Amino acid sequence: MLEGGAVLLFSALPFLLTNAETSVVCAAGLDGSAKNISLDPVTHQCKGSSLTGAELETMIGLLKRFASCATTLVEGLFPAYAEGLSCARTSFRPVEIADRRTSWRQDDKRLHVDAFPSRPMQGRRILRVFTNIDPDGAPRRWRIGPTFEAYAQQFLPSLPRANPGKTWLLEHLGLTKGRRSRYDEIMLFLHDAAKRDLDWQRGTPADDVKFGSGCTWIVFTDQVPHAAIAGRNALEQTFYIDPAVLARPETAPLAILGRLCGTVMTTSKGLTA
Ligand code: SIN
Ligand code: FE
Repeated sequence: MLEGGAVLLFSALPFLLTNAETSVVCAAGLDGSAKNISLDPVTHQCKGSSLTGAELETMIGLLKRFASCATTLVEGLFPAYAEGLSCARTSFRPVEIADRRTSWRQDDKRLHVDAFPSRPMQGRRILRVFTNIDPDGAPRRWRIGPTFEAYAQQFLPSLPRANPGKTWLLEHLGLTKGRRSRYDEIMLFLHDAAKRDLDWQRGTPADDVKFGSGCTWIVFTDQVPHAAIAGRNALEQTFYIDPAVLARPETAPLAILGRLCGTVMTTSKGLTA
Protein backbone atom coordinates (compact mmCIF):
# COMPACT_ATOMS: atom_id res chain seq x y z
CA MET A 1 0.00 0.00 0.00
CA LEU A 2 2.81 2.40 0.87
CA GLU A 3 4.49 1.84 -2.49
CA GLY A 4 1.11 2.15 -4.18
CA GLY A 5 0.82 5.74 -2.90
CA ALA A 6 -0.88 5.34 0.49
CA VAL A 7 -0.06 7.56 3.46
CA LEU A 8 0.33 5.24 6.46
CA LEU A 9 -1.21 6.88 9.50
CA PHE A 10 -0.48 5.88 13.10
CA SER A 11 -3.02 8.01 14.89
CA ALA A 12 -1.73 7.23 18.38
CA LEU A 13 2.02 7.04 17.97
CA PRO A 14 3.36 10.11 19.76
CA PHE A 15 6.98 11.07 20.27
CA LEU A 16 7.15 11.84 23.98
CA LEU A 17 9.26 14.79 25.11
CA THR A 18 11.01 15.42 28.42
CA ASN A 19 10.19 18.69 30.21
CA ALA A 20 13.51 20.16 29.06
CA GLU A 21 12.73 19.16 25.45
CA THR A 22 9.24 20.67 25.63
CA SER A 23 10.74 24.01 26.77
CA VAL A 24 13.24 23.92 23.91
CA VAL A 25 10.51 23.06 21.38
CA CYS A 26 8.52 26.07 22.61
CA ALA A 27 11.58 28.35 22.49
CA ALA A 28 13.00 27.12 19.18
CA GLY A 29 13.20 29.65 16.40
CA LEU A 30 14.86 29.69 12.99
CA ASP A 31 18.06 31.61 12.29
CA GLY A 32 16.78 32.57 8.82
CA SER A 33 19.24 30.36 6.88
CA ALA A 34 16.80 27.51 6.19
CA LYS A 35 13.10 26.53 6.23
CA ASN A 36 13.60 24.17 9.17
CA ILE A 37 15.99 23.13 11.90
CA SER A 38 17.81 20.03 10.72
CA LEU A 39 20.49 17.56 11.64
CA ASP A 40 23.03 16.14 9.21
CA PRO A 41 23.07 12.33 9.60
CA VAL A 42 26.84 12.08 9.08
CA THR A 43 28.35 15.14 10.77
CA HIS A 44 25.53 15.55 13.34
CA GLN A 45 25.72 19.27 12.68
CA CYS A 46 22.52 21.15 13.35
CA LYS A 47 21.57 23.98 11.03
CA GLY A 48 18.77 26.51 10.86
CA SER A 49 18.27 27.01 14.60
CA SER A 50 18.63 30.21 16.61
CA LEU A 51 19.20 28.16 19.80
CA THR A 52 22.61 28.19 21.47
CA GLY A 53 24.46 26.43 24.29
CA ALA A 54 22.59 23.88 26.38
CA GLU A 55 19.31 24.52 24.52
CA LEU A 56 20.96 23.70 21.20
CA GLU A 57 22.42 20.51 22.71
CA THR A 58 18.94 19.50 23.91
CA MET A 59 17.54 20.09 20.41
CA ILE A 60 20.34 18.00 18.87
CA GLY A 61 19.64 15.20 21.37
CA LEU A 62 15.94 15.30 20.51
CA LEU A 63 16.64 15.12 16.77
CA LYS A 64 19.05 12.19 17.23
CA ARG A 65 16.49 10.34 19.34
CA PHE A 66 13.77 10.92 16.72
CA ALA A 67 16.13 9.69 13.98
CA SER A 68 16.77 6.52 15.91
CA CYS A 69 13.05 5.89 16.70
CA ALA A 70 12.03 6.57 13.09
CA THR A 71 14.71 4.16 11.84
CA THR A 72 13.52 1.43 14.23
CA LEU A 73 9.94 2.01 13.08
CA VAL A 74 10.78 1.80 9.36
CA GLU A 75 13.08 -1.20 9.77
CA GLY A 76 10.43 -2.97 11.85
CA LEU A 77 7.60 -2.28 9.42
CA PHE A 78 9.58 -2.92 6.23
CA PRO A 79 12.39 -5.40 6.97
CA ALA A 80 12.90 -5.90 3.24
CA TYR A 81 14.06 -2.27 2.95
CA ALA A 82 16.90 -2.70 5.48
CA GLU A 83 19.56 -3.43 2.86
CA GLY A 84 18.71 -0.41 0.75
CA LEU A 85 17.82 2.09 3.44
CA SER A 86 19.90 5.15 4.12
CA CYS A 87 19.14 7.67 6.80
CA ALA A 88 19.17 11.27 5.50
CA ARG A 89 18.37 14.53 7.33
CA THR A 90 16.22 14.80 10.44
CA SER A 91 14.22 18.00 10.77
CA PHE A 92 12.20 19.92 13.30
CA ARG A 93 9.63 22.26 11.75
CA PRO A 94 8.66 24.84 14.37
CA VAL A 95 7.07 27.53 12.19
CA GLU A 96 3.31 27.86 11.63
CA ILE A 97 2.94 26.95 7.97
CA ALA A 98 -0.14 29.10 7.39
CA ASP A 99 1.84 32.28 8.27
CA ARG A 100 4.92 31.49 6.23
CA ARG A 101 5.76 33.75 3.26
CA THR A 102 8.02 32.16 0.65
CA SER A 103 8.74 32.13 -3.06
CA TRP A 104 6.35 29.98 -5.12
CA ARG A 105 9.05 27.34 -5.55
CA GLN A 106 9.54 26.98 -1.79
CA ASP A 107 5.85 27.20 -1.03
CA ASP A 108 4.88 23.78 0.36
CA LYS A 109 1.28 25.00 0.73
CA ARG A 110 1.02 24.17 -2.98
CA LEU A 111 0.59 20.55 -4.07
CA HIS A 112 3.83 18.98 -5.25
CA VAL A 113 5.97 15.85 -5.13
CA ASP A 114 9.38 16.25 -3.47
CA ALA A 115 12.52 16.64 -5.57
CA PHE A 116 15.85 18.10 -4.43
CA PRO A 117 17.59 20.69 -6.65
CA SER A 118 21.09 20.05 -5.28
CA ARG A 119 20.91 16.34 -4.44
CA PRO A 120 20.17 14.13 -7.46
CA MET A 121 18.30 10.96 -6.42
CA GLN A 122 18.98 9.05 -9.67
CA GLY A 123 15.98 6.81 -9.01
CA ARG A 124 16.43 6.42 -5.26
CA ARG A 125 13.17 6.98 -3.40
CA ILE A 126 12.32 9.63 -0.78
CA LEU A 127 10.50 8.11 2.19
CA ARG A 128 9.53 10.39 5.07
CA VAL A 129 8.32 9.81 8.62
CA PHE A 130 6.50 12.72 10.29
CA THR A 131 5.30 13.14 13.87
CA ASN A 132 3.23 16.06 15.08
CA ILE A 133 4.59 17.10 18.49
CA ASP A 134 2.76 20.39 18.93
CA PRO A 135 2.44 20.93 22.71
CA ASP A 136 -0.85 22.85 22.24
CA GLY A 137 -2.38 20.09 20.14
CA ALA A 138 -2.64 21.99 16.85
CA PRO A 139 -3.20 19.57 13.96
CA ARG A 140 -0.97 19.57 10.88
CA ARG A 141 -3.19 19.98 7.83
CA TRP A 142 -2.25 18.52 4.48
CA ARG A 143 -3.94 18.31 1.12
CA ILE A 144 -3.20 14.99 -0.55
CA GLY A 145 -3.59 15.12 -4.26
CA PRO A 146 -4.22 12.97 -7.30
CA THR A 147 -2.27 9.83 -8.18
CA PHE A 148 1.32 10.24 -9.35
CA GLU A 149 0.26 9.08 -12.81
CA ALA A 150 -2.48 11.73 -13.12
CA TYR A 151 -0.12 14.39 -11.77
CA ALA A 152 2.61 13.45 -14.24
CA GLN A 153 0.19 13.26 -17.16
CA GLN A 154 -0.99 16.79 -16.38
CA PHE A 155 2.45 18.37 -16.76
CA LEU A 156 4.58 16.06 -18.95
CA PRO A 157 3.26 17.53 -22.23
CA SER A 158 5.26 20.72 -21.52
CA LEU A 159 8.44 18.93 -20.35
CA PRO A 160 11.55 20.57 -21.88
CA ARG A 161 14.15 18.44 -23.66
CA ALA A 162 17.05 16.93 -21.73
CA ASN A 163 19.89 19.39 -21.14
CA PRO A 164 23.15 17.42 -20.72
CA GLY A 165 25.28 20.60 -20.86
CA LYS A 166 23.39 22.09 -17.94
CA THR A 167 23.54 18.95 -15.76
CA TRP A 168 27.29 18.61 -16.50
CA LEU A 169 27.89 22.25 -15.55
CA LEU A 170 25.83 22.03 -12.34
CA GLU A 171 27.88 19.03 -11.26
CA HIS A 172 31.23 20.60 -12.14
CA LEU A 173 30.40 23.89 -10.42
CA GLY A 174 29.58 21.86 -7.29
CA LEU A 175 25.94 22.99 -7.36
CA THR A 176 24.67 19.40 -7.39
CA LYS A 177 26.06 16.49 -5.39
CA GLY A 178 26.65 14.20 -8.37
CA ARG A 179 25.05 14.37 -11.80
CA ARG A 180 21.37 15.18 -12.24
CA SER A 181 19.91 12.28 -14.21
CA ARG A 182 17.03 12.61 -16.67
CA TYR A 183 14.83 11.22 -13.89
CA ASP A 184 15.95 14.05 -11.57
CA GLU A 185 15.33 16.66 -14.27
CA ILE A 186 11.80 15.36 -14.79
CA MET A 187 11.03 15.20 -11.05
CA LEU A 188 12.24 18.79 -10.56
CA PHE A 189 10.23 19.90 -13.57
CA LEU A 190 7.09 18.24 -12.13
CA HIS A 191 7.69 19.89 -8.75
CA ASP A 192 8.04 23.35 -10.29
CA ALA A 193 5.34 22.99 -12.95
CA ALA A 194 2.73 22.00 -10.33
CA LYS A 195 3.64 24.75 -7.86
CA ARG A 196 3.61 27.37 -10.64
CA ASP A 197 0.15 26.42 -11.96
CA LEU A 198 -2.37 28.14 -9.70
CA ASP A 199 -5.38 27.06 -11.81
CA TRP A 200 -4.36 23.42 -11.38
CA GLN A 201 -3.72 23.98 -7.67
CA ARG A 202 -7.27 25.29 -7.24
CA GLY A 203 -9.01 22.86 -9.55
CA THR A 204 -7.39 19.51 -8.86
CA PRO A 205 -9.23 17.18 -6.47
CA ALA A 206 -7.33 16.62 -3.22
CA ASP A 207 -8.26 15.28 0.20
CA ASP A 208 -8.01 17.52 3.26
CA VAL A 209 -6.31 15.56 6.03
CA LYS A 210 -5.64 16.59 9.64
CA PHE A 211 -2.77 14.93 11.48
CA GLY A 212 -3.40 15.58 15.17
CA SER A 213 -0.71 16.09 17.76
CA GLY A 214 0.54 12.63 18.71
CA CYS A 215 0.10 11.27 15.17
CA THR A 216 2.87 9.71 13.11
CA TRP A 217 2.61 9.24 9.34
CA ILE A 218 4.83 7.67 6.68
CA VAL A 219 4.73 8.49 2.99
CA PHE A 220 6.79 8.37 -0.20
CA THR A 221 6.80 12.13 -0.78
CA ASP A 222 8.42 11.73 -4.21
CA GLN A 223 5.24 9.95 -5.32
CA VAL A 224 2.27 11.32 -3.39
CA PRO A 225 1.28 14.90 -4.32
CA HIS A 226 0.98 16.74 -1.00
CA ALA A 227 0.65 20.26 0.35
CA ALA A 228 1.15 21.24 3.99
CA ILE A 229 -1.27 24.08 4.63
CA ALA A 230 -1.29 24.61 8.40
CA GLY A 231 0.34 23.43 11.59
CA ARG A 232 3.55 23.89 13.57
CA ASN A 233 6.01 21.79 15.53
CA ALA A 234 6.49 18.62 13.51
CA LEU A 235 9.44 16.26 13.45
CA GLU A 236 10.45 14.61 10.19
CA GLN A 237 12.97 11.96 9.20
CA THR A 238 13.98 11.43 5.56
CA PHE A 239 15.17 8.09 4.22
CA TYR A 240 16.52 7.29 0.78
CA ILE A 241 15.51 3.86 -0.50
CA ASP A 242 17.42 2.01 -3.16
CA PRO A 243 14.93 1.02 -5.88
CA ALA A 244 16.40 -2.51 -5.87
CA VAL A 245 14.65 -3.27 -2.54
CA LEU A 246 11.16 -2.08 -3.53
CA ALA A 247 8.42 -4.71 -3.41
CA ARG A 248 6.50 -3.18 -6.32
CA PRO A 249 9.01 -1.26 -8.46
CA GLU A 250 6.39 -0.89 -11.20
CA THR A 251 4.52 1.61 -8.97
CA ALA A 252 7.56 3.88 -8.48
CA PRO A 253 7.81 7.27 -10.22
CA LEU A 254 10.83 5.97 -12.19
CA ALA A 255 8.74 3.22 -13.79
CA ILE A 256 5.66 5.39 -14.31
CA LEU A 257 7.70 8.16 -15.96
CA GLY A 258 9.55 5.63 -18.10
CA ARG A 259 6.21 4.33 -19.32
CA LEU A 260 4.65 7.76 -19.88
CA CYS A 261 7.73 9.18 -21.60
CA GLY A 262 8.34 6.03 -23.65
CA THR A 263 11.99 5.93 -22.58
CA VAL A 264 14.09 3.71 -20.37
CA MET A 265 15.40 5.56 -17.35
CA THR A 266 18.36 4.33 -15.38
CA THR A 267 18.90 4.34 -11.65
CA SER A 268 22.12 5.06 -9.82
CA LYS A 269 23.08 1.38 -10.11
CA GLY A 270 22.35 1.21 -13.80
CA LEU A 271 19.18 -0.80 -13.27
CA THR A 272 16.52 0.03 -15.81
CA ALA A 273 12.81 0.54 -15.37
C1 SIN B 1 6.44 19.14 2.49
O1 SIN B 1 7.20 18.17 2.32
O2 SIN B 1 5.93 19.63 1.51
C2 SIN B 1 6.17 19.72 3.86
C3 SIN B 1 5.50 18.75 4.75
C4 SIN B 1 5.32 19.26 6.17
O3 SIN B 1 6.18 20.00 6.65
O4 SIN B 1 4.32 18.89 6.79
FE1 FE C 1 7.01 18.24 0.14
